Amino acid sequence: MEEVVSKNENAKNDWRQESGRSKVNKPKTLNEIESSGEIRISTPDQELNRVLGGGIVPGSLVLIGGEPGIGKSTLMLQIGLALKKAKVLYVSGEESEQQIKMRSERISINDKASPGNHENFYMLAETNTKNVFLAIESLEPDLVIIDSIQTLHSAMIDSVAGSVGQVRQCAGELMKFAKETNTPVFLVGHITKDGMLAGPKVLEHMVDTVLQFEGDRHLAYRILRTTKNRFGSTSEIGIYEMLGTGLREVSNPSEILISQKDGQLSGVTIGATIEGNRPLLIEIQSLVSPASYGTPQRTPTGFDQKRLNMLLAVLEKRCGFRMGTQDVFVNMAGGIYVEDPAIDLALCISLISSLEEIPVNDKICFAAEVGLGGELRAVNRIDQRISEAEKLGFQQIYISKYSQKTLDLKKVKIAVKSFGKLTEVFQDLFK
Ligand code: TYD
Ligand code: MG
Repeated sequence: MEEVVSKNENAKNDWRQESGRSKVNKPKTLNEIESSGEIRISTPDQELNRVLGGGIVPGSLVLIGGEPGIGKSTLMLQIGLALKKAKVLYVSGEESEQQIKMRSERISINDKASPGNHENFYMLAETNTKNVFLAIESLEPDLVIIDSIQTLHSAMIDSVAGSVGQVRQCAGELMKFAKETNTPVFLVGHITKDGMLAGPKVLEHMVDTVLQFEGDRHLAYRILRTTKNRFGSTSEIGIYEMLGTGLREVSNPSEILISQKDGQLSGVTIGATIEGNRPLLIEIQSLVSPASYGTPQRTPTGFDQKRLNMLLAVLEKRCGFRMGTQDVFVNMAGGIYVEDPAIDLALCISLISSLEEIPVNDKICFAAEVGLGGELRAVNRIDQRISEAEKLGFQQIYISKYSQKTLDLKKVKIAVKSFGKLTEVFQDLFK
């Protein structure tokens, strides 16, 4: 690994390029420190506000990572254009001014309030940090967007743009700028296929907030996930749909995660999950069919392979279904990846529905974890799941009987059915 150390230690991180200005900080008591309160810049994008924990924090450094082509530039451009009152500087090392102009025209079609009003949006095609800071000093922007951190380079060290040393150096200079001027900075970072932020794992430690933009490039839905946040919770997600005119906020995700279909198919069930703080009803499709040759296949999309194997073993051993000779394919709708164990019950029902070719009524949903003994385990925030199911017009929800203790069933209109074992659910459902 090349690791080039700066020739001039003092000037290393100085975004103003002047040395010798360093002042020594004295320790203070907590009482001496002024409370800055909660000042946040609320953007017109509710999904972004949510993942940031309520809006952009002044002086914060936010990294937005994702695979090439997922829509990072689109999202950043869209936010820059939507913040009409703030002076935004968008620094691009990847695309030309013309390309960005063309893209902004497409995106602006959605902007009904004041289309074409981009007076406060400034664009700079530049990769040298020194020139970027010169532009910043004369413009004094309220928000800086760097697209991408891998294309920037600093003259302070001798290595190529995108190398670990450069990425760290450039991010360090930008961090210093952000903290000294209280200006928020967004950094776009590319992630390689194996999920590492290319080169800069180091970046994740330096920045205040890390947002991951993910989703299947061939599907329209995109998830913006917080993986680190010094100013809020890390369990939030934002959902977008990629249209020809940019990204659309999806404020009612359950509707898109349940496919509209005519008639009832076997192998399709709905699970009441929670992603971040939001309840989401997600459709699961399973296909179980006899393996024609060789080792049976187990192919989950949007679900953990090991957990699928575990659930199949439970169905075989505790419930007596012959899964060992079957190919099993599982699909979570919308390209979403589900980690919530409350999906277990819906998944098991979906597998058996496909195996036995008995459709499950589409007004029924499920929320329980399945244990190794085939028992239904309680899941957190069951009341939120139940009320979301009720809101979306479901008539029945199956849960663990151990969840029920904490529940006030008088207020709910949906029928809540609670059981202790997987086999009891099968008997009730497929009787
Ligand atoms: P982009 O934002 O350039 O991705 P990234 O910066 O993460 O590499 O855009 C990704 C894809 O989105 C690109 O293939 C084109 C598509 N796209 C749309 O479908 N609609 C749009 O309005 C825009 C701007 C892009
Ligand atoms: Mg881009």
